[in-house]
Amino acid sequence: TWTAANIVEEQVALVREQVGDKRVICALSGGVDSAVAAALVQRAIGDQLTCVFVDHGLLRKGEAEQVERDFVAVTGVDLKVVDASKQFLDALAGVTDPERKRKIIGAEFISCFDAAAAEIVQAGHGDVEFLVQGTLYPDVVESGGGEGAANIKSHHNVGGLPEDLQFKLIEPLRTLFKDEVRAVGEQLGLPHAMVWRHPFPGPGLGIRIIGEVTAERLDILREADAIVRAETTAAGVDGDIWQFPVVLLADVRSVGVQGDGRTYGHPIVLRPVTSEDAMTADWGRLPYDLLERLSSAVTNGVREVNRVVLDITSKPPGTIEWE
Ligand code: XMP
Repeated sequence: TWTAANIVEEQVALVREQVGDKRVICALSGGVDSAVAAALVQRAIGDQLTCVFVDHGLLRKGEAEQVERDFVAVTGVDLKVVDASKQFLDALAGVTDPERKRKIIGAEFISCFDAAAAEIVQAGHGDVEFLVQGTLYPDVVESGGGEGAANIKSHHNVGGLPEDLQFKLIEPLRTLFKDEVRAVGEQLGLPHAMVWRHPFPGPGLGIRIIGEVTAERLDILREADAIVRAETTAAGVDGDIWQFPVVLLADVRSVGVQGDGRTYGHPIVLRPVTSEDAMTADWGRLPYDLLERLSSAVTNGVREVNRVVLDITSKPPGTIEWE
């Protein structure tokens, strides 16, 4: 029978057997999946694991601190933080195609891991042979790796990996759905807030800016997203929705009026969805008064945004993310 305790026991044994006395690194993204994968592997092999957190500059506000402070506090894991914002932004310059963005972000991730692994070796900890990833079953299916493969998007942790990857992969969540991963996280003693955090894609805000990703556009979206999250949490509806992407239509402008002045700003899209497993989704029916508060809070709080629109598309036909 399926229980979280059984999964933990089984995976801990498998990871121990697979790894032996070798060194392992784990990519932390700030999301639920990588946090649970890391905690699971740490349970199995303790200090043979080093976690690497790549700050790619595509994170939400406060996210880096959450990993650096909260996750370490709870797990006591050995963490290495890589500040790679400039590297990612340079690589993404001029790129607008969603799949190219995903591939580039995936490749930059790997190059950061390679560098981090080399540093670990240099520090005399021995060779790094394995890379832990929080890949879930839906990621495998949607990137074309599962049965009935449908190549919809290259999730950075599946389709984006280079063929000459120098690590063997450990993917202890590869057969699980999100709700199962959350149960495993709770079984491992991770705090409620970490386990029930809304999903956030590995490529981060990079695939929520429709158009080229620039530092300025990231600042605009990061601010709008933080405002939406704060209002939504304050309204107490986090538990009613699966996920709430906020998307910047960076190449679209529309005319507005604020005070006495004409503005020519950008729209942001609110994309609250409900879902069981992200394979299908419905648009979230948020209360009108909350939507109104979101609209005025964002347009008041972010100078460059003068219009807020609501995405009422289910999946299918729309995917959850816009890219
Ligand atoms: P879509 O947009 O395909 O998203 O309906 C389904 C779920 O997957 C998340 N997502 C990702 N997660 N790496 C991830 O770790 C990725 O590259 C990625 N792309 C999408 C998305 O946020 C949603 O929860």
